[in-house]
Amino acid sequence: MKKYFTYPILIFFLVLPFCTVANEGMWQPGQLPQIKSQLSEAGLELNPDALTNLTDFPMGAIVSLGGCSASFVSDQGLVITNHHCVVRSIQHNSTTDNNLLEQGFVAKNHSEELPAAPGSKILVTESVIDVTDQVLTNLSSEMDGQARYEQIESNTKNLIQNCESNESFRCSVVKFHGGLSYFLFKQLHIRDVRLVHVPSKSVGKYGGDIDNWMWPRHTGDYAFYRAYVGPDGKPADYHEDNQPYQPSHHLKTNPNGVKENDYIMLMGYPGLTNRYRTASEIKHTFNHIYPLTIDLMGSLVSVIEANSAPDSEARVKYQSLLAGLLNYEKNRKLMVDSYQKGTTQQRKDALDRNLREWVAADPKRHSEFGASIDHLDQLIKQHQTMDVRDILLRYMTFSSMIDSAIELHRLAVESTKPDEQREMGFQERDLRDIKQRMLRISGEYDSHVDQAILMVLLERYAELPEAQRLPSIDGFFGIEKVYSAKDLSKKLQKMYEKTKLHDEDIRLGWIGKTLSDFESSKDPFIQFAVQSFADRIKLENQEKERTGLLSVARPVYMKAIIAYNESQGQAIYADANGTLRLTYGHVTGYQPKDGLIAQPFTTLQGVLEKYTGVWPFNAPQSLLDLIENQTYGDYVAEEIQSVPVNFLGNLDITGGNSGSATLNSKAELVGLVFDGVSESIIGNWDYDAEFNRSIHVDIRYILWVMKYLYQAEHLIKEMDLIN
Ligand code: ARG
Repeated sequence: MKKYFTYPILIFFLVLPFCTVANEGMWQPGQLPQIKSQLSEAGLELNPDALTNLTDFPMGAIVSLGGCSASFVSDQGLVITNHHCVVRSIQHNSTTDNNLLEQGFVAKNHSEELPAAPGSKILVTESVIDVTDQVLTNLSSEMDGQARYEQIESNTKNLIQNCESNESFRCSVVKFHGGLSYFLFKQLHIRDVRLVHVPSKSVGKYGGDIDNWMWPRHTGDYAFYRAYVGPDGKPADYHEDNQPYQPSHHLKTNPNGVKENDYIMLMGYPGLTNRYRTASEIKHTFNHIYPLTIDLMGSLVSVIEANSAPDSEARVKYQSLLAGLLNYEKNRKLMVDSYQKGTTQQRKDALDRNLREWVAADPKRHSEFGASIDHLDQLIKQHQTMDVRDILLRYMTFSSMIDSAIELHRLAVESTKPDEQREMGFQERDLRDIKQRMLRISGEYDSHVDQAILMVLLERYAELPEAQRLPSIDGFFGIEKVYSAKDLSKKLQKMYEKTKLHDEDIRLGWIGKTLSDFESSKDPFIQFAVQSFADRIKLENQEKERTGLLSVARPVYMKAIIAYNESQGQAIYADANGTLRLTYGHVTGYQPKDGLIAQPFTTLQGVLEKYTGVWPFNAPQSLLDLIENQTYGDYVAEEIQSVPVNFLGNLDITGGNSGSATLNSKAELVGLVFDGVSESIIGNWDYDAEFNRSIHVDIRYILWVMKYLYQAEHLIKEMDLIN
């Protein structure tokens, strides 16, 4: 449709400020008073003030799984989230003979509930405090970037240490608006998490990666966990004597669902957006970074698939990683596609220009913002030469052997310092997480696959210009001047034959060993970590220098954007950063292309329409029979004469929101968000109200599958259903 815009309309388009249009925005709870009237106008039937208090209903029922969102739905710690958020835990409990991913799973009682994958957690946010002043204390304008970075980090560590009064809580300090403000989050950290119920993947991931990011959709993307705590009611490690956690708030479920145009909202933990980046950052990302990551993701998917037969033990181990890579790869492809077809770059160029002109037009503004904006441009440009190398090095940690060796060695390095001086991630408070990660590798590692992953990445690395490569890595793998793939492959073969790091006990045994133990080790991966350390630290310090300088320039740029928007009467929300946000809107379809209207609901008949009997369009026979017999029970929607499967909304979401409860105007559970349509992926950079649509699984489909397919009526009963 956009190509029909005539010139004058285009001009209008280009002078839009960085302003928020209806439904755009991921609002911090503390900001809700600012948008009170919009919320009520949109149809919220609660007092908006009720939403700002984290420990009250409904915010108190919303939790994070670290990477996904979820909610309490009973007073016995029952938690609902997406199927795709618990794949690791399903995988953890599956074998080729008892593959829960294929069959689904329902615990008939508490004792049948299964431990989630190591490291699984449920985080309940208790408080959020503005700590900007404390984070930005003891800084001086004479400091170089690295010194500044380190002072901020040290201030942050102090705040965290004071906040984590005991083991029940985890605290974090998160940056908003590029460092214009910082908030301290205190979260209850529930560590005993159990898998209660998941549908088979033929229901929970119906349509697979073909349908991912697509509408019409027919996916039952739901799952249940339960939070457990020790007999004293406090978070504890897994133990038989642990009891279900009793949250102070849980959501009530409305089995009548929603209708077209109904108000909906959700609270959750969106991961990352880049809505306020400069035009040059966008250009670089879409023309260089994304094409490279798409390419790398694609190669990783191919090597994993080529080195693990379908249904093999190895494939089961890589299910979760594979799904993540495919999801991400498709995301980036669709995003680049939108960018190439759409007007994002022109719009961003224009916004950038407008902002700069606005700054230049006034001497006071110019002296406040001008120099920092120039400095920001310069920092961005400097960095753009080395990022291919940096991405490749980061990707090498997709090899579990490289990853664990580097992490274990770093722990030994940091452990030589007093706790408060250690790098974040390697302090006493991090030991449990490190251990859990080391444990988790056992269920997610296969030596052939790991070796193949490392080989592909090293081959790419070897093609970099010499000036970009690290001498120690070149030396270690023998890829200095002339390099032969055959020799490299032989070298890797030997490393994998010799290493003992794949052995769980040995891996865990390295936690707590001294630096000299590492230095004298004969394990080839440990040797790699030791020998490449100095070079890697050099890069890390360069990155700190840059981050430190950015932490001066970026906030000023953001301040300019905020001031510019204020001058137009617009409230600004911060980019997503993994913290609790609210987004609101309505159930609504859209027009993806000329001549095509996307209806807001899909039906059971649509499941049959797509059915081929072959993954990803297979389904349990019982499901087909139920649909053929029109067994709808209480879950039919009259408007569509069927059970609604998925619906569309116009909520502003991104990765990390997965699993968030979709709530109606009274904050009752009516579905779960699990995806967005392809046209909204670019929304991470450039929001477009016309095309931005969220995809939700309807609560009526969830309850219908639970009741008729899994006889999970005990769970339905446990949920607090509204009559
Ligand atoms: N695209 C979704 C997201 O990134 C994940 C959907 C998972 N389902 C799938 N078929 N891959 O949040």
